[in-house]
Amino acid sequence: MNRYADIPRERLPALLAAMPKAELHIHIEGSLEPQLIFALAARNGVKLAYPNVEALRAAYAFTDLQSFLDIYYAGASVLLLEDDFHDMAWAYLVRAAEENVLHTELFFDPQTHTARGVDIGVVIRGLKRATERARAELGVSAALILCFLRHLSEEDALQTLEQALPYREHFIGVGLDSSERGHPPEKFARVFARCRELGLRLVAHAGEEGPPEYIWNALDVLKVERIDHGVRCVEDPALVRRLAEQRVPLTVCPLSNVKLCVFADLGRHNLGELLAAGLVATVNSDDPAYFGGYLNQNYLETFAALPLDAGHAYVLARNSFEASFASAADKAGWIARLDETFERFRS
Ligand code: HPA
Ligand code: ZN
Repeated sequence: MNRYADIPRERLPALLAAMPKAELHIHIEGSLEPQLIFALAARNGVKLAYPNVEALRAAYAFTDLQSFLDIYYAGASVLLLEDDFHDMAWAYLVRAAEENVLHTELFFDPQTHTARGVDIGVVIRGLKRATERARAELGVSAALILCFLRHLSEEDALQTLEQALPYREHFIGVGLDSSERGHPPEKFARVFARCRELGLRLVAHAGEEGPPEYIWNALDVLKVERIDHGVRCVEDPALVRRLAEQRVPLTVCPLSNVKLCVFADLGRHNLGELLAAGLVATVNSDDPAYFGGYLNQNYLETFAALPLDAGHAYVLARNSFEASFASAADKAGWIARLDETFERFRS
């Protein structure tokens, strides 16, 4: 694979934790830990359907994407004020810094909040304050990607975009998330075309639970630059060739895939297959408070379960920087730090 493949396996856990990396698929509302949900509920006088943290955690037994989304939207109901959004994102960014995440692109779901009467400016200003603080105090680079909820109408997405435009300089792109099956990418053709005209970067969840056709249409109709998840691409060899040739990144989320029953266990995850096919795969946490771990835990457990070595770790970390929407200069600086770390572990 590369000059790092023969770094001894016993050094892998330390290497995976220490290596500089980027996280490109994290829903910030999915980083809301049960303790913070209860603290914010108390602070804001919101009544929850669960009596305590333990009862809430016990409900985190998911059978598919929808069973997770129902609880995830309930958890987000405690977020009302600008400080709530700041505190949630800040907690994630502190953790990211501890895990040697140098750059992160955070998804947020404004419709989850505007539907409850929260102004979109409250959401964006709170998140933005946390990302600016992260750069200043933690040295972590962080950008925001506004996601449209695909179970809602395209009209609703268009209205959300209009509401967000006064804050255009605060987010770098748009994505598409929530219930995938029955809500194909082409449902959002007009709103993505408009976002493209506005110069926003484009991504979409596709091929998590939905078929390969949704990945084709995310590329050809929405014209996205990255596919979130995308693991079902392997069912279509022509699609795999297309993704490899055009170097379309996939933001893969191993622990999420197991928790939502996309794969029966990590030992059956297809990350190794994706890399062997030459795809620009990356590792991400998706909704770390709900799926059993933050980014380093995703790397550690996946490498423990699959026949992956330090050569693969290097490729995944490098892909995470190359697949990001950061500047070429930033990417080069981060990759130089990545190389230094791997050279240190080699000697
Ligand atoms: N898929 C779709 N929508 C989501 C997810 C996911 O994994 N996490 C949060 N919203
Ligand atoms: Zn996701």
